[in-house]
Amino acid sequence: MKHLLIVYHTKTGNTGKLAQAALKGATSELVADVETRLRRAGAAGPDDLLWADGLLLGTPENFGYMSGALKDFFDRTFYEVEGRIQPLPCAIFISAGNDGSGALRAIRRIANGYPFTEVQEPVIARGEVSSSQLAACEELGLALAAGLEAGIY
Ligand SMILES: Cc1cc2nc3c(=O)[nH]c(=O)nc-3n(C[C@H](O)[C@H](O)[C@H](O)COP(=O)(O)O)c2cc1C
Repeated sequence: MKHLLIVYHTKTGNTGKLAQAALKGATSELVADVETRLRRAGAAGPDDLLWADGLLLGTPENFGYMSGALKDFFDRTFYEVEGRIQPLPCAIFISAGNDGSGALRAIRRIANGYPFTEVQEPVIARGEVSSSQLAACEELGLALAAGLEAGIY
């Protein structure tokens, strides 16, 4: 049984909707042998990363950066898991008013350090969350879970 961890922050609910869509994809009946854990960034910790075989990271873009809560998750876990995890396959989803590139850049930079290996293109949902953005996140969750199950990642 492989383990997929989804860590996200949301303030006004948009990234939360993306996270729920990713969870839906990851727990699709097309995938049998993957357990998925959904955690808000503030409630996630090193044990979750040590448990995970793959990772989805979600955040709003705030002030051209990831949310403070997701950054805090990184601050609280980096040294705790250093040297104890294999490179984790990961993918990123972002909710932004009109940009998202600063949050993406910042997450990628930190991900390199853990290391997490980005295995799917990110989903950047700008403005109101649309059905196509939800579908893209559902696909992202499915792709990570199916890839873990198949041993591709
Ligand atoms: C304090 C603050 C700063 C923000 N900064 C940015 C920004 O730099 N770029 C951007 O595209 N959107 C920015 N936004 C808009 C949010 O990214 C957007 O509303 C997002 O959908 C919020 O996600 P959430 O509903 O999951 O909290 C900002 C919003 C807030 C509250």
